[in-house]
Amino acid sequence: RTVLVLNGPNLNMLGTREPANYGHETLADIAAQCSQTAAGLGFEVDFRQTNHEGELIDWIHQARGRCAGIVINPAAWTHTSVAIRDALVAADLPVIEVHISNVHKREEFRHHSFVSAIAVGVICGLGSQGYSLALQHFGQLFSKV
Ligand code: DQA
Repeated sequence: RTVLVLNGPNLNMLGTREPANYGHETLADIAAQCSQTAAGLGFEVDFRQTNHEGELIDWIHQARGRCAGIVINPAAWTHTSVAIRDALVAADLPVIEVHISNVHKREEFRHHSFVSAIAVGVICGLGSQGYSLALQHFGQLFSKV
C-alpha cells in the first residue's frame, strides 16, 4: 500500500524560507520522517513537491486506483485552487490536509481552504510533525479494513 504525500509551491524552499513560520527543517528532512513513519506502520510513501499546479493535478489523477490515500500540503493553492479540490474529489481517495504553520493565526487570506471541506481532516500549526500524524491516522484507517 502507498500513501501519496503531495507538497505545493515554495515548499522546496523549506529550511531557508520564513523560518519563523516554517522552522528550519528542509523538505528532504520531512520526506525522511514520512518514510520512517510509514515504514513503522507497514506502508510506503510516495513523497513529491511541485511548483506547477497542472503537474500536481496530474499526480492526483494518477493516484486514483494506485494509492490508498493522499496527504497534501497544497501551500498557497490551498487558498486559491478549485481545480486541486476537484482533482482530489475525482481521485476518490481519502485526503488529509496538512499545514506546517497555524494558518488561522496568520493573514485573513490564509483562513479559507478550498480543500478542507472534502478532506477527512486537517492538521495545521504542528510543524513538520503534522505529516507524520496524518500518516499515523492512515495507518489506523488501513488497520480497520
Ligand atoms: C502552508 C500555509 C500556506 O498559507 C502557505 O501559502 C504555504 C505553506 C503551511 O504549510 O503552513 O506555502 O501551507
